[in-house]
Amino acid sequence: MKISTFIGHIQFPHKMPREILYLKIAKIIEEQIASGTLQTGDKVPSIRMVQKIHNVSINTVKQAFLELESKSLIASKPKSGYYVSQAFNTKLGLPSINKLNLSDKEKTPEDLISKVFNTLTNKDFTQFSLGVVDKSMLPIAKLNKGVIKVLRNLEDSGTAYEPAQGNINLRKNIAKWSFTWDGHLNEDDIVTTSGTLNALFYSLITVTNPGDTVAIESPVYFGILQMIKSLGLHIIELPTHPVTGVAIEDLKKVLPKIKACCFVTNFNNPLGSCIPEENKKEIVRLLTLHNIPLIEDDLYGDIFFGTSRPKPCKAFDEAGIVMWCGSVSKTLAPGYRVGWVAPGKFKDKLIRHKLLHTMSSPPLFQEVIADFMEHGRYDHHLRSLRNTLYANYLHFQRTIENYFPENTKISKPQGGFVLWLELDPRIDTAILYDTAVQHKIGFAPGRMFTQHNQYNNCMRLNFAVKWDEKVENSLKRLGTLIKQQLKK
Ligand SMILES: Cc1ncc(COP(=O)(O)O)c(C=O)c1O
Repeated sequence: MKISTFIGHIQFPHKMPREILYLKIAKIIEEQIASGTLQTGDKVPSIRMVQKIHNVSINTVKQAFLELESKSLIASKPKSGYYVSQAFNTKLGLPSINKLNLSDKEKTPEDLISKVFNTLTNKDFTQFSLGVVDKSMLPIAKLNKGVIKVLRNLEDSGTAYEPAQGNINLRKNIAKWSFTWDGHLNEDDIVTTSGTLNALFYSLITVTNPGDTVAIESPVYFGILQMIKSLGLHIIELPTHPVTGVAIEDLKKVLPKIKACCFVTNFNNPLGSCIPEENKKEIVRLLTLHNIPLIEDDLYGDIFFGTSRPKPCKAFDEAGIVMWCGSVSKTLAPGYRVGWVAPGKFKDKLIRHKLLHTMSSPPLFQEVIADFMEHGRYDHHLRSLRNTLYANYLHFQRTIENYFPENTKISKPQGGFVLWLELDPRIDTAILYDTAVQHKIGFAPGRMFTQHNQYNNCMRLNFAVKWDEKVENSLKRLGTLIKQQLKK
């Protein structure tokens, strides 16, 4: 790589705190690696050169290099300097894209879902199946302090009903937070809910009637699938690219048939795909033209590995057709059940549904989250959470590459915390699951994420687990079990 390519640098203001400065420098190098400008084996410009280019201290550059080393992106060779390591360039291919399946033939995944949920409470298991962040990565002590503070300060100690639209402090803070993605929401645009699933539920019952059809991604989080079905709605599973999500052409084909779309636009579960901004704009344009609401599940958007948060479709919504849903379940506290929806032009109808179903959300946990956001703790916590998750992703990627069969295909999420693997077609992950359970390992078999008979050789792995020897050995063991099944 030519040094001049690398020198496309930014001059940093002298007063920028060193903590931020080193992260910025690390990010620039990381982007050079991600884009392929710096490739595996390339020598990274020396510490002194980076110091001169960016006009910062040697210590700042050293810290930036340490940061990159901790993510396994670069490695030092004695007396020679730093080199790009293998992390980004996995040999393994991407999982395949499903075909558009408009048939009514279904193979419901309830059997598998119950089976997996039955093992979730086993404490001695290595659980790659759960869709939650390990508690070691959550700021539990700080949240506890918040609970005590809020309990003391809250009128009636949080025992009273609230207006159906939800806690005003929480709504204000979510509106403020929307500036991270160029959203111009205000507190009046937001309705609080009991987690994202509840936000999706209100959105669905607001814009559909039983018998209508909803377009979703495929594979899709089984909670969405099951909820839509439970409302007597039909589902069209759209082909979903593991990196770029649903294709505009496929969406166009189904527009005449559907009443609403429900997409996880940023780092979806289980593929990790993130719809590029241009496609998001086009999706919003098309749906606005056809007056079709988009229920947008954006609960992973804040967990990005790149330099900035991807915008949701809501950022491009001028007609109010996007119902933007989120929660703190994946970042702070799934048990608090704090979520929200910005329902656009459907707000009044949605609030009526909330009033009918729950009257009011519990004030206590909404206040705790509002307080946490208000004092900059959310932002601070997310910075370290993203770093830990990204480091975990690289550990998983490397271990899978080294210990799983060579024809394993793996997703490349740029955020979130799940991996989607496609294994040799001879592997049935529902059968493999039973074997894995005997070895105290849990994962989510692929067929849980569809209403059709597909993804039988796929699995979802949660990498938001505390990376230690036990986890590493369980992952290696899973690779060995797959290889053993292939020999049978
Ligand atoms: C895509 C998606 N939506 C919604 C949920 C549920 O979120 P919540 O706990 O906020 O209801 C999950 C949980 O795994 C999810 O992955």
